[in-house]
Amino acid sequence: LEFRRVLFRSALVRRSRGSSLRWMQEPGSTPVPSRVVSATAAEACARVAGEIHGLLAASARAGEPTVLGLATGGTMVGVYSALVERLAGEPVDLSRVTTFNLDEYLGLAEGDPRSFRSFMAEHLFGPAGFAPERCHFPDAALAAEQSGLAGEAYQALIARHGGLDLQLLGIGRNGHVAFNEPGTPEAASTRVVPLHEHTRADAAPSFGGLEHVPTHAITMGLLEIRAARRLRLLAFGEAKAAAIHAALVAPVDPACPASLLRNHADLEVLLDGAAASALGA
Ligand code: GLP
Repeated sequence: LEFRRVLFRSALVRRSRGSSLRWMQEPGSTPVPSRVVSATAAEACARVAGEIHGLLAASARAGEPTVLGLATGGTMVGVYSALVERLAGEPVDLSRVTTFNLDEYLGLAEGDPRSFRSFMAEHLFGPAGFAPERCHFPDAALAAEQSGLAGEAYQALIARHGGLDLQLLGIGRNGHVAFNEPGTPEAASTRVVPLHEHTRADAAPSFGGLEHVPTHAITMGLLEIRAARRLRLLAFGEAKAAAIHAALVAPVDPACPASLLRNHADLEVLLDGAAASALGA
């Protein structure tokens, strides 16, 4: 296998799409087959939204279903608004689209505006017109009672739909993906997890204080995420630079769960200059 890392700079992408820049690999690091796209946040969001739009349109034309894996978080707001815009300009039949979100907090009432389901309804499902009954989340209520059952049910539902065509991912400051916190083994599947103190601190503003942030969540595991046919990971801002370095350049280590995705056959990582700043390009 020939491993290659390619850094597309936005200027180069504009001038000649094929141009590539290599960067030095750190001693002891594992080669990366992933594509790294460095652009502005708006360009990165438009690129991913365009890819998803293309996937939805091609499947709709062929009468095939599409299964999207979706993520929440501030990083995704721009992706979803770009996708809503694309769909408004070039409408696509969404009647055969099924979605699976990565995770959900435990202990929130149904319809709580801070739930990930509410986030998705506000930023994507409502404005784009996705059928609510085709938009799935891990069952947080069941998880609170019978965590094992909730995890297995979600895994089985994804499998019944033929797996995920494309999974969107953000990354936590500590390298988490979905709520797979540092130390998560590669084989972890959908399950209930305690939230890391960093993760709870990052969520505190939207909950009106740390004491109101749930302590647990149910999350898709690295197993289901890695099984997605395409992975698209986005990170913007300097606060993500260290996590991106650990994910892409430092040795693969469960201490940075995102690094366990590095050898996926179709991973594209889209960064702005600040998030890419520790890559040494
Ligand atoms: C939460 C989500 C993750 C997301 C992360 C980063 O922890 N569970 O899926 O990647 O936040 O969020 P943001 O994009 O707001 O930085």
